[in-house]
Amino acid sequence: MSNDGVNAGRRRFLVAATSVVGAAGAVGAAVPFVGSWFPSAKAKAAGAPVKVNVSKIEPGQQMVAEWRGQPVFIVRRTEEILSNLVKIEGQLADFDSKASEQPSYVDPKTRSIKPEVLLLVGLCTHLGCAPSFRPEVAPADLGAEWVGGYFCPCHGSRYDLAGRVYKAQPAPLNLPVPPHTYESDDVIIIGVDQEQA
Ligand code: FES
Repeated sequence: MSNDGVNAGRRRFLVAATSVVGAAGAVGAAVPFVGSWFPSAKAKAAGAPVKVNVSKIEPGQQMVAEWRGQPVFIVRRTEEILSNLVKIEGQLADFDSKASEQPSYVDPKTRSIKPEVLLLVGLCTHLGCAPSFRPEVAPADLGAEWVGGYFCPCHGSRYDLAGRVYKAQPAPLNLPVPPHTYESDDVIIIGVDQEQA
């Protein structure tokens, strides 16, 4: 047998072997996509909008809802809280939320649709811990300057009661405001954008 014959035979073997590997690879790659073609009911529910009745939240207090597996803080703000938002602007890293995430239809000053009702995704923008709700004024552990806000227990980031981060904190951005809309005076749907006029 000539060398040509050997080489031709070897080439045919290599081509055949490569085809088999290619086919196996294609089958292996196809499997994960089957799941995304048919998302489970659980997966659909996880991304679904969430309806929340906010009528029971007392002034100055918050409730926590869950949307897409994330906590959503909902706070009923008082007149005093709202007036403090303006006073502390100079201490904040992004007071008008130019760099931070919030829907275009919220009032840029209050970060909300109605001034008194604030919604925030409750995950610190540093490394994702859940900040603690600290609405009290001048508590011993947060200092005389504290006018109420959120304190992240992981690395100490501080936010105000519009979810805006103070300057020189580990967290770089304000807490995001999730998309939301009012179905009625007391019922909010989280995950649906308000229709814009
Ligand atoms: S995760 Fe909040 S300060 Fe680090």
